[in-house]
Amino acid sequence: MIADLILVHFNQIFAPHDLGHPLYGAEMREADIIEDGYIAIKDGKILAIGSGQPDNELIGPATQIKAYNGKIATPGIIDCHTHLVYGGSREHEFAQKLNGVPYLEILAQGGGILNTVRATRQADFDTLYDKTKRLLDYMLLHGVTTVEAKSGYGLDWNTEYRQLEVAQALNKDHTIDLVSTFMAAHAIPPEYQGRSKEYLDLIVNDMLPLVKGQNLAEFCDIFCEKGVFTADESRYLLEKAKKLGFKLRIHADEIASIGGVEVAAELQTTSAEHLMMATDQGMEELSKAHVIGNLLPATTFSLMEDTYAPARKMIEKGMAITLSTDSNPGSCPTANMQFVMQLGCFMMHLTPIEVLNAVTINAAYSVNRQETVGNFDKGKEADISIFDAPNIDYCFYFFATNLIHQVYKTGQLVVDQGRLTDK
Ligand code: NIG
Ligand code: FE
Repeated sequence: MIADLILVHFNQIFAPHDLGHPLYGAEMREADIIEDGYIAIKDGKILAIGSGQPDNELIGPATQIKAYNGKIATPGIIDCHTHLVYGGSREHEFAQKLNGVPYLEILAQGGGILNTVRATRQADFDTLYDKTKRLLDYMLLHGVTTVEAKSGYGLDWNTEYRQLEVAQALNKDHTIDLVSTFMAAHAIPPEYQGRSKEYLDLIVNDMLPLVKGQNLAEFCDIFCEKGVFTADESRYLLEKAKKLGFKLRIHADEIASIGGVEVAAELQTTSAEHLMMATDQGMEELSKAHVIGNLLPATTFSLMEDTYAPARKMIEKGMAITLSTDSNPGSCPTANMQFVMQLGCFMMHLTPIEVLNAVTINAAYSVNRQETVGNFDKGKEADISIFDAPNIDYCFYFFATNLIHQVYKTGQLVVDQGRLTDK
């Protein structure tokens, strides 16, 4: 078959394996690293990859060929955990944070997430849309082509709905593909203080069916945390969501270990998120239940903690892991997946190959997009992140700098030398 476009002479292409399931444990160490690589694209999809001169049968009179000497390519990076749509910002809490006031204490005083809830309730659709679009632009400029986006700054139907609508609209309008998660159980709204069960019933009886009916989210998530929702409450909500056909995720063991991991294993959620405080037993249960561990090292960094999730141990115990930003206005205000990936090496002692597997093929499985993205198998979308780096290790070694040279989304050039091509 003849390609429309062939990108040739990459110093290296990082080509993860799709084994039909997320890469578990030692599988995360494996990937093809193709020297002097090429990627052939037809109709926005991957036609072939290989090394050296592309096969003659790929080249016709109209085939465009572009050379990438000195660069490396990876599948489009996937950010599989964000709280993307919100009003306002929380730099005024930064001083408190620097003075050592704990995150959960700021929340307990009515700040933190609840601050953002107030700002999001006040923000209209256009305000939220423009703000979120800007965040997505940053992400794309850093090489991200698919993003999971949670609601959870409304905690009432109208605002949760508006957040989901914004994500849906941007999924259509923006280059980045969005995967929506409904997370009304992100905090207990002020008007339900002390009545968390009643709030959960509101979610279960009123909100979940509406979200499902309008197909506004694929996943349901809950913040299982000390002072927020208990493990029993998390089980209650997620069981109901599962019955309605939602796929599940859970924020577990972020700050305190209160049983969210056991709920994840029991309900076989797609992923358990954060896991900073995961115990040996918890990791073993997640491993057995094939729950993906979604780790967010930039949150640990931003909370100024030293309790990075025990990623090495998780891999030893046979878990599949992913890494993502957690992009949100409180515990992790960033849009830079490259920094997250570097923290994966610097602070969690993962290897570059493990990190790249985490943010491509494993992240694709964690957002249920493994059929279309996550690696360079023939027929997958031609989502490609191209780094100004002579080899893969350089992307980690030269840190905290945006190394993206170009990005292709479904075979179209969407970022070129630091700029979005539609601007
Ligand atoms: O994943 N843990 C709960 N939610 C976010 C923080 C949201 C916020 O602080 O606004 C998190 O860390
Ligand atoms: Fe989160």
